[in-house]
Amino acid sequence: MTERTHKTIEQAEQEGKYIRKVRSFVKREGRLTKAQAKALEQFWPIMGLNHQDGMINPHTLFGNNNPLVLEIGFGMGKSLVEMAKNAPELNFIGVEVHRPGVGACIALAQEQGVTNLKVYEHDAIEILADCIPDACLAKVQLFFPDPWHKKKHHKRRIVQASFVEAIREKLQVGGVFHMATDWENYAECMLADMSSAPGYKNLSATNDYVPRPDSRPLTKFEHRGQNLGHGVWDLQFEKLG
Ligand SMILES: C[S@@+](CC[C@H](N)C(=O)[O-])C[C@H]1O[C@@H](n2cnc3c(N)ncnc32)[C@H](O)[C@@H]1O
Repeated sequence: MTERTHKTIEQAEQEGKYIRKVRSFVKREGRLTKAQAKALEQFWPIMGLNHQDGMINPHTLFGNNNPLVLEIGFGMGKSLVEMAKNAPELNFIGVEVHRPGVGACIALAQEQGVTNLKVYEHDAIEILADCIPDACLAKVQLFFPDPWHKKKHHKRRIVQASFVEAIREKLQVGGVFHMATDWENYAECMLADMSSAPGYKNLSATNDYVPRPDSRPLTKFEHRGQNLGHGVWDLQFEKLG
């Protein structure tokens, strides 16, 4: 199990620990719509998870032992809610830093009667380290992460060796890390990072990308990319025993 050595970044820094300061996002204080604000107020106690509560117990959280899927950076949550609705035999946890997106996701999930989904409004790097037990995830989804196009910003990309290793620790043996991007250079870097990481097997028949699975609904960013004429690259890697 990952040892939980700190509660907040501030505490860890006070203890002299090295904390990654380059983040994969820039916090935008987008304004909440009335519906998003209402959903957050009304349904956070049912759907919301808090970083400061530490490690979760998936069994007690969902009241069953169904396989657990973690989605990182779900945006406005439309495709995540659709997936959760289509797969009641799975449990889902979404992590997103953008508050209006979290509000929109909760509002939609409630409207759709989805009960197998919980969400964090927090940096996924810290959620992985502090809240997700080792070897508990059947799947991790990372769809259209911010591509950080400019070379000088590539260090902000969430997919890098330390992240790939953190995901591997949290996956069960046989669990799958599924990524998709519409930015070719990011797809190539994802492929290089994943192929050189120990403990993973590429599920691609051609040892690179997989065909778009039917289980992945069109996401907002994918739709935008399509309108711009972008291609899409899906990668799926299985955790080896
Ligand atoms: C380009 S958007 C894609 C959103 C959605 N997956 C889609 O395809 O429509 C990337 C999202 O990842 C979120 N994000 C970036 N870094 C994150 C992190 N470290 N933890 C949680 N969310 C993050 C951003 O706030 C943003 O909403």
